[in-house]
Amino acid sequence: MTDLTSISFVATDLDALATHSGRVAIVITPDGKMGQAARRANRLSKGAVQRFVDSDAFEKVKMGQVTTMSWPVGFDAEALDILCLPRNPSIKEARKAGAALAKLRGSKPLLLAMDGVRRVAEVAFGLAMRDYEFADHKTDPAKPVTAVSIMCADPEQAQADAAPLLAIAEGAFMTRDLINEPANVLTTTEFADRLAEMTSLGLEVEVLEEADLEKLGMRTLLCVGQGSDSPSKVVVMHWNGGEKSAAPLALVGKGVVFDTGGISLKPGAGMEDMTMDMGGAGVVAGTMRALALRKAKANVVGLVGLVENMPSSNAVRPGDVIHSMKGDTVEVINTDAEGRLVLCDVMWYAQERFAPVGMIDLATLTGAIIVGLGHENAGVFSNNDAFCNAFLKAADKEGEGAWRMPLGQAYDDLLKSRIADMKNIGGRAAGAVTAAQFLQRFVKPETPWIHLDIAGVASVKSATALAPAGATGWGVMALNRLIADGYESA
Ligand code: BES
Ligand code: MN
Ligand code: ZN
Repeated sequence: MTDLTSISFVATDLDALATHSGRVAIVITPDGKMGQAARRANRLSKGAVQRFVDSDAFEKVKMGQVTTMSWPVGFDAEALDILCLPRNPSIKEARKAGAALAKLRGSKPLLLAMDGVRRVAEVAFGLAMRDYEFADHKTDPAKPVTAVSIMCADPEQAQADAAPLLAIAEGAFMTRDLINEPANVLTTTEFADRLAEMTSLGLEVEVLEEADLEKLGMRTLLCVGQGSDSPSKVVVMHWNGGEKSAAPLALVGKGVVFDTGGISLKPGAGMEDMTMDMGGAGVVAGTMRALALRKAKANVVGLVGLVENMPSSNAVRPGDVIHSMKGDTVEVINTDAEGRLVLCDVMWYAQERFAPVGMIDLATLTGAIIVGLGHENAGVFSNNDAFCNAFLKAADKEGEGAWRMPLGQAYDDLLKSRIADMKNIGGRAAGAVTAAQFLQRFVKPETPWIHLDIAGVASVKSATALAPAGATGWGVMALNRLIADGYESA
Protein backbone atom coordinates (compact mmCIF):
# COMPACT_ATOMS: atom_id res chain seq x y z
CA MET A 1 0.00 0.00 0.00
CA THR A 2 1.08 3.55 -0.69
CA ASP A 3 2.91 5.15 2.18
CA LEU A 4 1.45 8.60 2.68
CA THR A 5 4.27 9.67 4.91
CA SER A 6 6.41 9.66 1.78
CA ILE A 7 4.90 13.03 0.81
CA SER A 8 6.59 15.95 2.54
CA PHE A 9 6.26 19.71 2.29
CA VAL A 10 9.46 21.76 2.27
CA ALA A 11 10.47 25.38 1.93
CA THR A 12 11.29 26.60 -1.55
CA ASP A 13 14.94 26.11 -2.41
CA LEU A 14 15.56 27.14 -6.02
CA ASP A 15 19.09 25.73 -6.06
CA ALA A 16 17.69 22.24 -5.47
CA LEU A 17 16.02 22.31 -8.90
CA ALA A 18 19.29 21.87 -10.74
CA THR A 19 20.80 19.25 -8.47
CA HIS A 20 17.80 17.01 -7.68
CA SER A 21 18.18 13.59 -9.19
CA GLY A 22 14.92 11.92 -10.14
CA ARG A 23 12.09 14.07 -11.46
CA VAL A 24 11.53 17.78 -11.08
CA ALA A 25 8.06 19.25 -11.60
CA ILE A 26 7.12 22.91 -12.03
CA VAL A 27 3.83 24.75 -12.46
CA ILE A 28 2.80 27.01 -15.33
CA THR A 29 -0.59 28.70 -15.38
CA PRO A 30 -2.96 28.10 -18.33
CA ASP A 31 -2.12 31.60 -19.59
CA GLY A 32 1.59 30.81 -19.54
CA LYS A 33 2.61 32.60 -16.32
CA MET A 34 5.55 31.29 -14.34
CA GLY A 35 6.38 31.52 -10.66
CA GLN A 36 9.88 31.79 -9.24
CA ALA A 37 10.71 28.12 -9.59
CA ALA A 38 9.40 27.90 -13.15
CA ARG A 39 11.45 30.97 -14.09
CA ARG A 40 14.55 29.37 -12.57
CA ALA A 41 13.79 26.14 -14.45
CA ASN A 42 13.44 28.15 -17.63
CA ARG A 43 16.83 29.77 -17.10
CA LEU A 44 18.45 26.42 -16.29
CA SER A 45 16.97 24.93 -19.45
CA LYS A 46 18.26 27.88 -21.49
CA GLY A 47 14.73 29.00 -22.36
CA ALA A 48 13.31 25.59 -23.27
CA VAL A 49 10.38 26.01 -20.86
CA GLN A 50 9.45 29.38 -22.41
CA ARG A 51 9.75 27.92 -25.92
CA PHE A 52 7.29 25.23 -24.91
CA VAL A 53 4.89 27.85 -23.52
CA ASP A 54 5.16 29.85 -26.76
CA SER A 55 4.58 26.79 -28.96
CA ASP A 56 1.32 25.50 -30.45
CA ALA A 57 1.72 22.42 -28.24
CA PHE A 58 1.04 24.46 -25.10
CA GLU A 59 -2.34 25.59 -26.41
CA LYS A 60 -3.49 21.99 -26.44
CA VAL A 61 -2.40 21.37 -22.86
CA LYS A 62 -5.41 21.24 -20.58
CA MET A 63 -5.81 22.25 -17.00
CA GLY A 64 -4.29 19.71 -14.65
CA GLN A 65 -2.23 18.05 -17.39
CA VAL A 66 1.47 17.30 -17.31
CA THR A 67 3.97 17.61 -20.16
CA THR A 68 7.32 15.89 -19.70
CA MET A 69 10.74 16.94 -20.99
CA SER A 70 13.14 14.00 -20.76
CA TRP A 71 16.78 14.47 -19.72
CA PRO A 72 16.49 18.28 -19.77
CA VAL A 73 19.66 20.29 -20.34
CA GLY A 74 20.77 22.13 -17.19
CA PHE A 75 19.28 19.61 -14.73
CA ASP A 76 20.65 16.55 -12.99
CA ALA A 77 17.07 15.21 -13.09
CA GLU A 78 16.00 12.66 -15.66
CA ALA A 79 12.72 14.47 -16.35
CA LEU A 80 11.19 17.91 -16.04
CA ASP A 81 7.42 17.71 -15.66
CA ILE A 82 5.50 20.85 -16.53
CA LEU A 83 2.16 20.98 -14.76
CA CYS A 84 -0.57 23.25 -16.09
CA LEU A 85 -2.44 24.72 -13.12
CA PRO A 86 -3.78 28.17 -12.20
CA ARG A 87 -2.34 29.95 -9.15
CA ASN A 88 -5.66 29.50 -7.37
CA PRO A 89 -7.02 26.16 -8.59
CA SER A 90 -10.35 24.64 -7.62
CA ILE A 91 -10.22 21.56 -5.41
CA LYS A 92 -11.01 19.36 -8.40
CA GLU A 93 -8.27 20.97 -10.54
CA ALA A 94 -5.69 20.62 -7.77
CA ARG A 95 -6.55 16.95 -7.19
CA LYS A 96 -6.50 16.23 -10.92
CA ALA A 97 -3.03 17.75 -11.19
CA GLY A 98 -1.78 15.59 -8.32
CA ALA A 99 -3.30 12.53 -9.99
CA ALA A 100 -1.56 13.37 -13.27
CA LEU A 101 1.76 13.48 -11.44
CA ALA A 102 1.04 10.18 -9.72
CA LYS A 103 0.79 8.46 -13.09
CA LEU A 104 4.37 9.59 -13.92
CA ARG A 105 5.86 9.22 -10.50
CA GLY A 106 7.60 5.89 -11.09
CA SER A 107 10.31 4.85 -8.71
CA LYS A 108 12.34 8.07 -8.74
CA PRO A 109 11.97 10.77 -6.07
CA LEU A 110 9.88 13.69 -7.21
CA LEU A 111 10.62 17.32 -6.38
CA LEU A 112 7.49 19.38 -7.05
CA ALA A 113 7.88 23.16 -6.97
CA MET A 114 4.56 24.79 -6.07
CA ASP A 115 5.71 28.23 -5.01
CA GLY A 116 2.93 30.77 -5.43
CA VAL A 117 0.26 28.11 -6.00
CA ARG A 118 -2.64 27.57 -3.61
CA ARG A 119 -4.32 24.28 -2.53
CA VAL A 120 -0.96 22.52 -2.25
CA ALA A 121 -2.43 19.92 0.13
CA GLU A 122 -5.18 19.06 -2.38
CA VAL A 123 -2.50 18.36 -4.98
CA ALA A 124 -0.81 16.00 -2.51
CA PHE A 125 -4.18 14.36 -1.86
CA GLY A 126 -4.81 13.77 -5.57
CA LEU A 127 -1.32 12.37 -5.90
CA ALA A 128 -1.77 9.99 -2.97
CA MET A 129 -5.21 8.82 -4.13
CA ARG A 130 -4.10 8.06 -7.69
CA ASP A 131 -0.83 6.47 -6.59
CA TYR A 132 -2.66 3.66 -4.79
CA GLU A 133 -1.84 0.17 -5.94
CA PHE A 134 -3.15 -3.19 -4.75
CA ALA A 135 -0.03 -5.33 -4.91
CA ASP A 136 -0.50 -7.59 -1.89
CA HIS A 137 -0.69 -10.68 -4.06
CA LYS A 138 2.09 -9.85 -6.52
CA THR A 139 5.27 -11.67 -5.66
CA ASP A 140 7.21 -8.97 -7.52
CA PRO A 141 5.39 -5.64 -7.12
CA ALA A 142 6.21 -3.34 -10.03
CA LYS A 143 6.26 0.04 -8.40
CA PRO A 144 8.18 0.67 -5.20
CA VAL A 145 7.01 3.62 -3.13
CA THR A 146 9.22 6.68 -3.50
CA ALA A 147 9.54 10.08 -1.92
CA VAL A 148 7.73 13.24 -3.00
CA SER A 149 8.89 16.63 -1.76
CA ILE A 150 6.59 19.54 -2.42
CA MET A 151 8.26 22.97 -2.25
CA CYS A 152 5.76 25.61 -1.23
CA ALA A 153 5.46 29.02 0.40
CA ASP A 154 4.26 27.76 3.78
CA PRO A 155 5.19 24.10 4.38
CA GLU A 156 3.79 24.05 7.91
CA GLN A 157 0.40 25.28 6.74
CA ALA A 158 0.41 22.75 3.88
CA GLN A 159 1.23 19.96 6.32
CA ALA A 160 -1.64 21.03 8.56
CA ASP A 161 -4.04 21.25 5.59
CA ALA A 162 -2.93 17.82 4.41
CA ALA A 163 -3.53 16.00 7.69
CA PRO A 164 -7.34 15.59 7.39
CA LEU A 165 -7.02 14.86 3.67
CA LEU A 166 -4.53 12.11 4.26
CA ALA A 167 -6.92 10.65 6.85
CA ILE A 168 -9.54 10.49 4.10
CA ALA A 169 -7.04 8.90 1.72
CA GLU A 170 -6.22 6.25 4.31
CA GLY A 171 -9.90 5.56 4.80
CA ALA A 172 -10.41 5.24 1.04
CA PHE A 173 -7.38 2.93 0.83
CA MET A 174 -8.89 0.67 3.44
CA THR A 175 -12.11 0.57 1.38
CA ARG A 176 -10.15 -0.20 -1.78
CA ASP A 177 -8.06 -2.91 -0.12
CA LEU A 178 -11.19 -4.62 1.22
CA ILE A 179 -12.95 -4.46 -2.15
CA ASN A 180 -9.92 -5.63 -4.13
CA GLU A 181 -9.21 -8.52 -1.77
CA PRO A 182 -10.22 -11.95 -3.12
CA ALA A 183 -12.89 -13.91 -1.26
CA ASN A 184 -10.58 -16.73 -0.17
CA VAL A 185 -8.62 -14.13 1.81
CA LEU A 186 -11.41 -11.79 2.86
CA THR A 187 -13.75 -14.24 4.57
CA THR A 188 -16.40 -12.94 6.95
CA THR A 189 -14.03 -13.73 9.83
CA GLU A 190 -11.07 -11.95 8.25
CA PHE A 191 -13.29 -8.94 7.48
CA ALA A 192 -14.48 -8.74 11.10
CA ASP A 193 -10.88 -9.10 12.34
CA ARG A 194 -9.75 -6.18 10.18
CA LEU A 195 -12.56 -4.04 11.57
CA ALA A 196 -11.75 -5.08 15.14
CA GLU A 197 -8.18 -3.86 14.60
CA MET A 198 -9.56 -0.34 14.29
CA THR A 199 -10.04 -0.21 18.05
CA SER A 200 -6.41 0.97 18.05
CA LEU A 201 -7.66 4.18 16.39
CA GLY A 202 -10.16 4.87 19.15
CA LEU A 203 -13.17 3.21 17.52
CA GLU A 204 -15.33 0.95 19.63
CA VAL A 205 -15.95 -2.26 17.67
CA GLU A 206 -18.47 -5.01 18.51
CA VAL A 207 -18.74 -8.27 16.60
CA LEU A 208 -22.12 -10.02 16.75
CA GLU A 209 -21.82 -13.74 16.04
CA GLU A 210 -24.46 -16.09 14.61
CA ALA A 211 -25.82 -17.00 18.05
CA ASP A 212 -26.28 -13.28 18.83
CA LEU A 213 -27.99 -12.69 15.49
CA GLU A 214 -30.25 -15.68 16.08
CA LYS A 215 -31.29 -14.18 19.44
CA LEU A 216 -31.97 -10.81 17.81
CA GLY A 217 -34.13 -12.56 15.23
CA MET A 218 -32.10 -11.54 12.20
CA ARG A 219 -33.43 -14.46 10.17
CA THR A 220 -33.34 -12.76 6.76
CA LEU A 221 -29.65 -11.95 7.18
CA LEU A 222 -28.86 -15.41 8.52
CA CYS A 223 -30.70 -17.19 5.70
CA VAL A 224 -28.32 -15.65 3.15
CA GLY A 225 -25.25 -17.01 4.90
CA GLN A 226 -26.66 -20.40 5.87
CA GLY A 227 -25.26 -22.17 2.80
CA SER A 228 -21.70 -21.09 3.53
CA ASP A 229 -19.12 -22.51 5.91
CA SER A 230 -18.09 -18.94 6.73
CA PRO A 231 -20.10 -17.72 9.74
CA SER A 232 -22.37 -14.72 9.26
CA LYS A 233 -21.54 -11.70 11.40
CA VAL A 234 -22.69 -8.17 12.07
CA VAL A 235 -20.02 -5.70 13.09
CA VAL A 236 -20.90 -2.44 14.84
CA MET A 237 -18.33 0.36 14.84
CA HIS A 238 -18.87 3.39 17.05
CA TRP A 239 -17.14 6.72 16.62
CA ASN A 240 -18.13 8.99 19.50
CA GLY A 241 -16.46 12.29 18.65
CA GLY A 242 -19.56 14.43 19.21
CA GLU A 243 -21.65 15.43 22.19
CA LYS A 244 -22.29 12.63 24.65
CA SER A 245 -26.04 12.27 24.44
CA ALA A 246 -26.44 13.20 20.76
CA ALA A 247 -28.01 10.49 18.57
CA PRO A 248 -25.60 9.24 15.92
CA LEU A 249 -25.73 9.16 12.16
CA ALA A 250 -25.94 5.50 11.09
CA LEU A 251 -24.08 4.04 8.13
CA VAL A 252 -25.14 0.54 7.09
CA GLY A 253 -23.20 -1.58 4.59
CA LYS A 254 -23.90 -4.71 2.56
CA GLY A 255 -20.98 -7.05 3.16
CA VAL A 256 -21.52 -10.09 0.94
CA VAL A 257 -17.94 -11.33 0.79
CA PHE A 258 -18.83 -13.43 -2.25
CA ASP A 259 -22.11 -13.62 -4.14
CA THR A 260 -22.55 -16.80 -6.18
CA GLY A 261 -26.27 -16.11 -6.31
CA GLY A 262 -26.91 -19.12 -4.08
CA ILE A 263 -29.37 -21.74 -5.40
CA SER A 264 -30.42 -19.11 -7.99
CA LEU A 265 -26.84 -19.49 -9.23
CA LYS A 266 -25.26 -16.74 -11.28
CA PRO A 267 -23.77 -17.55 -14.70
CA GLY A 268 -20.06 -18.43 -14.58
CA ALA A 269 -18.78 -15.64 -16.82
CA GLY A 270 -17.84 -12.66 -14.71
CA MET A 271 -18.75 -14.30 -11.41
CA GLU A 272 -15.25 -13.47 -10.15
CA ASP A 273 -16.35 -9.83 -9.96
CA MET A 274 -18.62 -10.74 -7.05
CA THR A 275 -15.64 -10.47 -4.71
CA MET A 276 -16.63 -6.79 -4.64
CA ASP A 277 -20.12 -7.51 -3.31
CA MET A 278 -19.00 -6.35 0.12
CA GLY A 279 -18.40 -2.86 -1.32
CA GLY A 280 -21.02 -1.15 0.84
CA ALA A 281 -19.46 -2.57 3.99
CA GLY A 282 -16.06 -1.54 2.65
CA VAL A 283 -17.16 2.08 2.27
CA VAL A 284 -18.65 2.10 5.77
CA ALA A 285 -15.38 0.73 7.18
CA GLY A 286 -13.21 3.22 5.28
CA THR A 287 -15.40 6.15 6.30
CA MET A 288 -15.23 5.13 9.97
CA ARG A 289 -11.45 4.88 9.64
CA ALA A 290 -11.21 8.36 8.13
CA LEU A 291 -13.42 9.82 10.88
CA ALA A 292 -11.27 8.21 13.58
CA LEU A 293 -7.99 9.29 11.98
CA ARG A 294 -9.05 12.92 11.76
CA LYS A 295 -10.87 12.76 15.10
CA ALA A 296 -14.16 14.03 13.68
CA LYS A 297 -16.38 15.87 16.16
CA ALA A 298 -19.46 13.78 15.38
CA ASN A 299 -21.23 10.64 16.58
CA VAL A 300 -21.36 8.08 13.82
CA VAL A 301 -22.17 4.39 14.04
CA GLY A 302 -21.21 2.03 11.23
CA LEU A 303 -22.92 -1.35 10.91
CA VAL A 304 -22.02 -4.03 8.40
CA GLY A 305 -23.70 -7.35 7.64
CA LEU A 306 -21.03 -9.88 6.67
CA VAL A 307 -22.21 -13.04 4.90
CA GLU A 308 -21.29 -15.30 2.01
CA ASN A 309 -23.99 -16.31 -0.49
CA MET A 310 -23.30 -19.94 -1.42
CA PRO A 311 -25.37 -22.84 -2.79
CA SER A 312 -25.40 -25.95 -0.62
CA SER A 313 -27.88 -28.41 0.84
CA ASN A 314 -28.30 -26.01 3.75
CA ALA A 315 -28.81 -22.97 1.54
CA VAL A 316 -32.02 -20.98 1.49
CA ARG A 317 -34.23 -22.08 -1.44
CA PRO A 318 -36.44 -20.14 -3.82
CA GLY A 319 -39.90 -20.24 -2.27
CA ASP A 320 -38.75 -20.29 1.35
CA VAL A 321 -40.52 -17.85 3.66
CA ILE A 322 -38.34 -16.09 6.23
CA HIS A 323 -39.18 -13.95 9.27
CA SER A 324 -37.27 -10.67 9.38
CA MET A 325 -36.18 -9.06 12.65
CA LYS A 326 -38.88 -6.45 12.11
CA GLY A 327 -41.47 -9.25 12.05
CA ASP A 328 -42.49 -8.97 8.40
CA THR A 329 -42.26 -12.18 6.40
CA VAL A 330 -40.39 -12.43 3.12
CA GLU A 331 -40.91 -14.96 0.36
CA VAL A 332 -37.50 -15.57 -1.16
CA ILE A 333 -38.24 -15.86 -4.88
CA ASN A 334 -34.65 -15.42 -5.99
CA THR A 335 -31.73 -16.23 -3.71
CA ASP A 336 -29.55 -13.90 -5.80
CA ALA A 337 -31.50 -10.90 -4.48
CA GLU A 338 -29.67 -11.43 -1.19
CA GLY A 339 -28.29 -7.96 -0.43
CA ARG A 340 -31.68 -6.59 0.57
CA LEU A 341 -32.21 -9.59 2.89
CA VAL A 342 -28.97 -8.73 4.68
CA LEU A 343 -29.62 -5.00 4.83
CA CYS A 344 -33.22 -5.10 6.01
CA ASP A 345 -32.28 -6.77 9.30
CA VAL A 346 -29.22 -4.59 9.92
CA MET A 347 -31.17 -1.42 9.11
CA TRP A 348 -33.95 -2.42 11.47
CA TYR A 349 -31.45 -3.21 14.21
CA ALA A 350 -29.69 0.14 13.67
CA GLN A 351 -32.96 2.04 14.13
CA GLU A 352 -34.17 0.01 17.11
CA ARG A 353 -30.89 0.34 18.96
CA PHE A 354 -29.67 3.84 18.04
CA ALA A 355 -32.70 5.89 16.88
CA PRO A 356 -30.24 7.60 14.53
CA VAL A 357 -30.62 11.19 13.30
CA GLY A 358 -30.27 9.76 9.83
CA MET A 359 -29.45 6.44 8.21
CA ILE A 360 -27.49 5.86 5.02
CA ASP A 361 -27.17 2.38 3.59
CA LEU A 362 -24.64 1.48 0.91
CA ALA A 363 -24.78 -1.63 -1.23
CA THR A 364 -23.66 -3.17 -4.49
CA LEU A 365 -27.32 -4.03 -4.71
CA THR A 366 -28.42 -4.39 -8.33
CA GLY A 367 -27.14 -4.95 -11.83
CA ALA A 368 -30.11 -2.78 -12.86
CA ILE A 369 -28.49 0.38 -11.48
CA ILE A 370 -25.54 -0.26 -13.82
CA VAL A 371 -27.94 -0.52 -16.76
CA GLY A 372 -29.49 2.79 -15.70
CA LEU A 373 -26.50 4.89 -14.63
CA GLY A 374 -23.40 3.04 -15.81
CA HIS A 375 -20.20 3.56 -13.86
CA GLU A 376 -20.47 7.36 -13.57
CA ASN A 377 -23.08 7.73 -10.85
CA ALA A 378 -24.32 5.81 -7.86
CA GLY A 379 -28.10 5.56 -7.54
CA VAL A 380 -29.48 7.68 -4.69
CA PHE A 381 -32.87 6.92 -3.14
CA SER A 382 -34.31 8.82 -0.22
CA ASN A 383 -37.42 9.51 1.86
CA ASN A 384 -36.19 12.99 2.85
CA ASP A 385 -35.41 15.82 0.40
CA ALA A 386 -33.25 17.92 2.74
CA PHE A 387 -31.11 14.96 3.79
CA CYS A 388 -30.83 13.76 0.20
CA ASN A 389 -29.86 17.19 -1.14
CA ALA A 390 -27.19 17.56 1.53
CA PHE A 391 -25.69 14.28 0.39
CA LEU A 392 -25.89 15.16 -3.32
CA LYS A 393 -24.13 18.45 -2.58
CA ALA A 394 -21.38 16.70 -0.62
CA ALA A 395 -20.87 14.16 -3.41
CA ASP A 396 -20.70 16.92 -6.01
CA LYS A 397 -18.11 18.87 -4.01
CA GLU A 398 -15.95 15.76 -3.87
CA GLY A 399 -16.43 14.83 -7.51
CA GLU A 400 -18.17 11.55 -6.72
CA GLY A 401 -21.05 10.92 -9.14
CA ALA A 402 -24.48 10.51 -7.53
CA TRP A 403 -27.93 10.70 -9.14
CA ARG A 404 -31.28 10.65 -7.42
CA MET A 405 -33.81 7.98 -8.44
CA PRO A 406 -37.54 7.77 -7.70
CA LEU A 407 -39.50 5.81 -5.10
CA GLY A 408 -43.28 5.38 -5.05
CA GLN A 409 -46.27 3.23 -4.17
CA ALA A 410 -46.63 1.77 -7.65
CA TYR A 411 -43.11 0.33 -7.41
CA ASP A 412 -43.78 -0.95 -3.91
CA ASP A 413 -46.87 -2.80 -5.15
CA LEU A 414 -44.61 -4.97 -7.33
CA LEU A 415 -43.30 -6.67 -4.17
CA LYS A 416 -46.68 -8.17 -3.18
CA SER A 417 -46.56 -11.87 -2.36
CA ARG A 418 -49.42 -14.38 -2.45
CA ILE A 419 -48.29 -16.20 0.70
CA ALA A 420 -46.09 -13.78 2.68
CA ASP A 421 -45.90 -10.05 3.46
CA MET A 422 -43.61 -9.46 0.49
CA LYS A 423 -41.43 -11.10 -2.15
CA ASN A 424 -37.72 -10.32 -2.32
CA ILE A 425 -37.87 -9.29 -5.99
CA GLY A 426 -40.18 -7.17 -8.11
CA GLY A 427 -39.48 -8.26 -11.63
CA ARG A 428 -37.32 -7.16 -14.54
CA ALA A 429 -38.74 -3.64 -14.68
CA ALA A 430 -37.11 -0.95 -12.51
CA GLY A 431 -34.95 -3.51 -10.67
CA ALA A 432 -32.93 -0.92 -8.75
CA VAL A 433 -36.10 0.91 -7.68
CA THR A 434 -37.94 -2.18 -6.46
CA ALA A 435 -34.80 -3.17 -4.51
CA ALA A 436 -34.82 0.27 -2.84
CA GLN A 437 -38.54 -0.09 -2.27
CA PHE A 438 -37.94 -3.38 -0.48
CA LEU A 439 -35.45 -1.63 1.82
CA GLN A 440 -37.85 1.23 2.50
CA ARG A 441 -40.27 -1.24 4.05
CA PHE A 442 -37.70 -1.52 6.84
CA VAL A 443 -37.23 2.21 7.34
CA LYS A 444 -39.26 3.84 10.11
CA PRO A 445 -41.21 6.84 8.81
CA GLU A 446 -39.39 9.13 11.26
CA THR A 447 -35.91 8.08 10.11
CA PRO A 448 -34.37 10.29 7.40
CA TRP A 449 -32.90 7.68 5.05
CA ILE A 450 -30.70 7.47 1.99
CA HIS A 451 -30.01 4.29 0.04
CA LEU A 452 -26.93 4.32 -2.19
CA ASP A 453 -26.78 1.60 -4.86
CA ILE A 454 -23.05 1.53 -5.62
CA ALA A 455 -22.95 -1.57 -7.87
CA GLY A 456 -21.68 0.54 -10.79
CA VAL A 457 -19.16 2.71 -9.00
CA ALA A 458 -17.55 0.60 -6.27
CA SER A 459 -15.16 -1.16 -8.64
CA VAL A 460 -14.47 -0.36 -12.29
CA LYS A 461 -12.51 -1.87 -15.16
CA SER A 462 -10.59 1.27 -16.14
CA ALA A 463 -9.01 4.09 -14.15
CA THR A 464 -11.10 7.02 -12.88
CA ALA A 465 -9.97 10.56 -12.03
CA LEU A 466 -8.48 9.60 -8.67
CA ALA A 467 -8.23 5.81 -8.78
CA PRO A 468 -6.52 3.17 -10.86
CA ALA A 469 -8.64 0.31 -12.27
CA GLY A 470 -10.33 -1.81 -9.60
CA ALA A 471 -11.85 -0.57 -6.38
CA THR A 472 -12.46 3.19 -6.34
CA GLY A 473 -13.34 3.89 -2.72
CA TRP A 474 -16.40 5.78 -4.02
CA GLY A 475 -18.34 7.31 -1.15
CA VAL A 476 -15.67 7.78 1.49
CA MET A 477 -15.00 11.36 0.39
CA ALA A 478 -18.68 12.25 0.00
CA LEU A 479 -19.75 10.74 3.34
CA ASN A 480 -16.83 12.36 5.12
CA ARG A 481 -17.79 15.70 3.56
CA LEU A 482 -21.46 15.27 4.51
CA ILE A 483 -20.42 14.63 8.12
CA ALA A 484 -17.86 17.46 8.20
CA ASP A 485 -20.34 19.97 6.75
CA GLY A 486 -23.49 18.92 8.57
CA TYR A 487 -22.83 16.89 11.70
CA GLU A 488 -19.75 18.29 13.39
CA SER A 489 -19.87 20.70 16.27
CA ALA A 490 -17.25 23.31 15.42
N1 BES B 1 -24.52 -8.31 -6.04
C1 BES B 1 -25.53 -8.32 -7.03
C2 BES B 1 -25.63 -7.00 -7.79
C3 BES B 1 -24.44 -6.64 -8.63
C4 BES B 1 -24.42 -6.92 -9.98
C5 BES B 1 -23.38 -5.94 -8.08
C6 BES B 1 -23.33 -6.56 -10.75
C7 BES B 1 -22.30 -5.58 -8.86
C8 BES B 1 -22.29 -5.88 -10.18
C9 BES B 1 -26.89 -8.58 -6.38
O1 BES B 1 -26.86 -9.36 -5.24
C10 BES B 1 -27.71 -9.29 -7.37
O2 BES B 1 -27.38 -10.40 -7.70
N2 BES B 1 -28.77 -8.64 -7.83
C11 BES B 1 -29.64 -9.22 -8.79
C12 BES B 1 -31.05 -8.96 -8.34
C13 BES B 1 -32.08 -9.72 -9.12
C14 BES B 1 -31.98 -11.19 -8.82
C15 BES B 1 -33.44 -9.20 -8.75
C16 BES B 1 -29.37 -8.56 -10.11
O3 BES B 1 -29.09 -7.36 -10.14
O4 BES B 1 -29.38 -9.25 -11.12
MN1 MN C 1 -26.96 -11.44 -5.69
ZN1 ZN D 1 -25.09 -9.38 -4.17
